[in-house]
Amino acid sequence: MTGAPREEHDDDAPDIEAGRWLFAQSCTFLRGAVDMAGLPPGDIPEVAFAGRSNVGKSSLVNALTGRKTLARTSNTPGRTKELNFFLLGAEGRPAIMLADLPGYGYARETRTRVEQWTDLVMSYLRGRATLRRVLLLIDARHGLKANDAEVMSLLDEAAVSYQIVLTKIDKLKAGELEERLGAVRDGIRTHVAAHPRIIATSSETGAGIAELRAEIASLAAADTLRYKSPAN
Ligand code: GTP
Ligand code: MG
Repeated sequence: MTGAPREEHDDDAPDIEAGRWLFAQSCTFLRGAVDMAGLPPGDIPEVAFAGRSNVGKSSLVNALTGRKTLARTSNTPGRTKELNFFLLGAEGRPAIMLADLPGYGYARETRTRVEQWTDLVMSYLRGRATLRRVLLLIDARHGLKANDAEVMSLLDEAAVSYQIVLTKIDKLKAGELEERLGAVRDGIRTHVAAHPRIIATSSETGAGIAELRAEIASLAAADTLRYKSPAN
């Protein structure tokens, strides 16, 4: 470790093979929660997918798991209304829980502020002890918006680690990705809980999906990642 800021293609990028193995295991919908009492037991590591409405959270869960209809997606913003939990891992040995969250910033006029994001999501983000990281999805065409910055500050204050994932990069023109990455990198610089590595993805083309799988596998309980030869 040099302590230098990490870039996308750095040496300590997580293990692609571990990610491939993990996401080749079964992924099952566990439950949808509409209140804190409805959350599944927090007994394994968890990763949450957060971001503005329509940014592609549910589509990304589907692309990662290779299942087109595991999480419900829609052209209409505001599709996901519950916190939806998915268990991923080998039979009888779940490695990680995925949480697909409702989006924020759905209504256009006055109610765009993050305070309007449901109390449930806020309570969940602040109080979930097993939450290892929030994947904060940003539409690559739009970059960081004011309400994304608000969520980042809120996660900074709650000391919840988060990582930016650009979505829909298939919609960008040549050269735009580098520009966008640079802008987002600048945007997260002052945010203490932001992970320095930014993952650029497309659920349409599969770009960045292997990298994101690896990133998620690095957060799973190590003893559940038995992808190497069972001989050791
Ligand atoms: P809410 O649940 O409403 O917050 O939305 P969401 O963030 O879960 O978005 P969802 O996955 O439902 O996708 C919204 C729309 O974006 C759908 O029409 C998807 O087909 C589209 N979409 C998602 N990912 C991609 C992508 O990588 N590329 C392209 N071109 N479209 C995408
Ligand atoms: Mg959704």
